[in-house]
Amino acid sequence: MLFRSKVNLDNVATVYLGYPIWWDQAPHVVNTFIESNDLSGKKIITFCTSGETSIDGSVRQLKSAYPALDFVKGRRLNGASVNEIEKWISSLKK
Ligand SMILES: Cc1cc2nc3c(=O)[nH]c(=O)nc-3n(C[C@H](O)[C@H](O)[C@H](O)COP(=O)(O)O)c2cc1C
Repeated sequence: MLFRSKVNLDNVATVYLGYPIWWDQAPHVVNTFIESNDLSGKKIITFCTSGETSIDGSVRQLKSAYPALDFVKGRRLNGASVNEIEKWISSLKK
């Protein structure tokens, strides 16, 4: 997906937003994506990879920058198997 592009999210209720942690945060290109699209009213489930930093600080920063949006703190997925990821996604739908 081109981050600067506006994408058609009309029929999308849940957005899975994944990124590598850079300097304890989501890279700025993620902010560009958020600001290029209308994500209001959608559930935004975050996930990340990192060297060692947890996802916590990046989600705190996103919530603080975009208080009107519904970010759900997801998981750091380094080393997770497809099976683990599928189980995690299923658990989110319950
Ligand atoms: C500019 C830059 C900043 C980074 N900052 C962090 C950081 O603050 N904490 C961390 O755990 N990893 C950091 N990383 C590592 C990346 O999160 C990691 O390389 C990425 O998630 C991909 O994971 P992989 O290398 O295991 O594929 C940084 C990487 C780059 C390129």
